Amino acid sequence: MLAIDPKIAADPFPTYELLRGADPIVRGPVVSSTVDHQAANEILRSDDFGTAAGHAELPPFLRRVLERVADPYSLSPVDKPSLLALDPPDHTRHRKLVARAFTARRITALEDRVTSVAEKLLDELDGGSFDLVERYAARLPVAVIADLLGVPEEQHDWLLDWGNRAAITLDPGLTFREFRDAETALRRMHHWFDEHVAQLRRNPGDDLLSQLALIDGEDALTDLELRAIGLLVLGAGFETTVNLIGNAVVNLAAHPEQRDLLVAEPERWPNAVEEVLRYDSPVQLTVRSALRDTVVAGTPVPEGLGILVLLGGVNRDPKVFTDPQAFDVTRANPDQHLSFSAGVHFCLGASLARLEAVTALRTLYARYPDLELAEAPVRRGTRVLHGYEQVRVMTGSPVPA
Ligand code: HEM
Repeated sequence: MLAIDPKIAADPFPTYELLRGADPIVRGPVVSSTVDHQAANEILRSDDFGTAAGHAELPPFLRRVLERVADPYSLSPVDKPSLLALDPPDHTRHRKLVARAFTARRITALEDRVTSVAEKLLDELDGGSFDLVERYAARLPVAVIADLLGVPEEQHDWLLDWGNRAAITLDPGLTFREFRDAETALRRMHHWFDEHVAQLRRNPGDDLLSQLALIDGEDALTDLELRAIGLLVLGAGFETTVNLIGNAVVNLAAHPEQRDLLVAEPERWPNAVEEVLRYDSPVQLTVRSALRDTVVAGTPVPEGLGILVLLGGVNRDPKVFTDPQAFDVTRANPDQHLSFSAGVHFCLGASLARLEAVTALRTLYARYPDLELAEAPVRRGTRVLHGYEQVRVMTGSPVPA
């Protein structure tokens, strides 16, 4: 139900509470799930679980068939050889390579760039009423990721369009039409990446993909692996951050007293971003499959069991968070959320996402301290990715830059 009912996808939180009972893992006829913080933490950090190539919800036979027929030109960000679909030791090797691009030094170096993109986007707006997602929240991450991938500015618009269409493959329960549309977008992206990688191999820049393409010897990456990394950074990098910024604006509009506090004391923004991550996680779930018989939070788990780790529900576990259904930017421990996962797949872009969100929000509200919604925001139809497609806002009177 969680995976396919659009009403539940729009507001999954009451359903999570129905799953919160005596058992940390709720066994279902097709798939099991957890909203328990301790169980989720154990599963995500345990060697006894694997990613099952992103298809843990399927029986093993179907999984094998799917892998056999998979076409390398329509693989999505959750298909092998994407990091998200690999288990150690393959995962360990790839992750080490990609992690080079996300060192603290590299992220700090991006700070000025993120601030100047945010300022420029706000300068282009003339106040009044506008769609915050289209004009701001979506554009900032695209510019940052495009820099990482060495994509020139004139190609940002269609990168965003493809990303929107391909991101839907992160979701279970696609309709055939959605699947076809996403597949066409992915195919185009793969071909474009082929050309782009060839171009970067000939004429490397300072970006992540160029650096990875230059590695030779034992660690050299194939074109397919480079495409997979590019696609993952694209999919993981902007469809998530756009939702984080959008979710923050919607929640702050519902709590103007908290917005005013942040405007008055901007050093509180990092904690506020953690609370948005906890309360309205941009990624609502991930999947793991037991590689062998094991025990989680005292509960036996048989080999082959697929478990939906419902991050959005885990983040509202009353055993960890006081008054978990309340949005409170002054909460003492919001950063205990699992919105960036945990263990070997812990989000590689977490510090970048935090930097982008804090900078985007601080800059936005410094310019428009009275920002509020102009009309009811429109949700995306996706189930894994959780956020808004459209957030029309009214800016009130701007503070001069
Ligand atoms: C609010 C923003 C973001 C959220 C909520 C988020 C969330 C996540 C989650 C939950 C996972 C792990 C999934 C699993 O355990 O199965 C993940 C993995 C990953 N994320 Fe993020 N992410 C965000 C932003 C970013 C950004 C900005 C980048 C890169 C520019 C990025 C790159 C990655 C990569 C490369 C992985 C795969 C790591 C691995 O499998 O080893 N993410 N992210």
